[in-house]
Amino acid sequence: MGNQRESVHGMWSSRAVFVMATIGSAVGLGNIWKFPYITGEYGGGAFVLVYLLCIALIGIPIMMAEVLLGRRGRASPISTMKRLAREEGASAAWSLVGYAGVVAGFLILSFYSVVAGWALAYVFQSAGGGLNGITAAGSASVFGDLVGSPDQLVVWHTVFILMTTAVVARGVRHGLERAVSVLMPALFVMLLIMVGYAYVEGDFARGFNFLFEVNFSRVFQVCSGEGAQIACRVSGEPLLVAMGHAFFTLSLGMGAIMAYGAYVPDHASITGATITIAVADTLVALLAGLAIFPIVFASGLEPGAGPGLIFQTLPVAFGNMPGGHLFGTVFFVLLVFAAWSSSISLVEPAVAWLVEVRRWSRVTAAFLVGALAWLLGIGSALSFNVWSGPEYQVLGKTLFDLKDFVASNIMLPLGGLLIALFVAYGAGRHMALEELSISRQRLFDAWWFVIRYVSPVGIAIVFLNSVGVL
Ligand code: PFF
Repeated sequence: MGNQRESVHGMWSSRAVFVMATIGSAVGLGNIWKFPYITGEYGGGAFVLVYLLCIALIGIPIMMAEVLLGRRGRASPISTMKRLAREEGASAAWSLVGYAGVVAGFLILSFYSVVAGWALAYVFQSAGGGLNGITAAGSASVFGDLVGSPDQLVVWHTVFILMTTAVVARGVRHGLERAVSVLMPALFVMLLIMVGYAYVEGDFARGFNFLFEVNFSRVFQVCSGEGAQIACRVSGEPLLVAMGHAFFTLSLGMGAIMAYGAYVPDHASITGATITIAVADTLVALLAGLAIFPIVFASGLEPGAGPGLIFQTLPVAFGNMPGGHLFGTVFFVLLVFAAWSSSISLVEPAVAWLVEVRRWSRVTAAFLVGALAWLLGIGSALSFNVWSGPEYQVLGKTLFDLKDFVASNIMLPLGGLLIALFVAYGAGRHMALEELSISRQRLFDAWWFVIRYVSPVGIAIVFLNSVGVL
């Protein structure tokens, strides 16, 4: 197993630390902010089902592929892809997967950081008592005031980029290991308590049904409006967005997992680790949905409210529950940490690569990468105010939406497809067999079948469907 290569960037001290750090990368705004809002926009249960299928049939097998490539190459994704392509006699063009991943990382961080900035702002809103006794309308106006102010958004975005850069500059292991193993479980417990609150105070049955009742016609429909006014059109978009979200939430397809895989100890089992990470990530998303939708329905809010959904909904719960002042503050602090441990992994591939090829210190590399992401992020912040008008939109999307759409729904699945194809066809069976070292042959064969046929064909079908070919 392995090839006894060492990573110049350090190693995780154990498999458990890798699992924790990768859960830190996977669990973030994607689970608590994005999953509820896109589920609300695409109509609930049918979307959730497609998302779960994508996690199982595409996400988990590709995550195993990413980790095994990372461990085999033991370098940044770009260098790993170059090195492995050379060793396996495949084309050097496979390294494009690494370069595209770096670009996707920048794009994602440039909107992720703005939303993380909202969470930071809400820590202070909540701590200052600004959410006490708040109504649904009041909460919508607090959110509207925040996103309407370019100055505030840019300040919080700047703070978050600095936080991210500071950790990456020190090396991913320092601080992250300990922080993540305490804070992730804390976030989990917090979500459980909020589901309890939603059960008692919210319209739990309606929220639950919204998430889990599958109306198959909605798989291929995008609807807008409400009640009798509802208008639906046939579209491949829900499928594409559900698949894109499976990649986004597992941090797949851009090299983040490959970069973390490079620091995995030689003898650690990849299969078990991957399944643990994917299950934890999925549970957090479903708990977030169960905490939010009952409150959405009980307070007469709109599930399709868009990116502001949790920021308009949760304050209504915090503002009216006993101890909500403290509870809300702690919740937003944990949300910031969850976003922080994810954003670190967005820049790690680029920083590791710059350290390798330019021989820069981590500090220089991290600050350069941070500065570029910061600059790109200004456009995302302005998308909610000065650049929100139709004259600044492309294909009906603001810059913020466009970056999310291109990175999550196109670049990540495409990266994932190429990773699957490289492992299955570019490198071949012997490499996967050696790295995965699954003792049960049947299990390996099943994974090998999925990575060769099921995942690539699945991604191709969704892509073709979304452009109207299928
Ligand atoms: N998985 C993170 C989340 O769900 O919030 C987002 C993310 C992190 C996406 C790292 C991609 C990535 F490489």
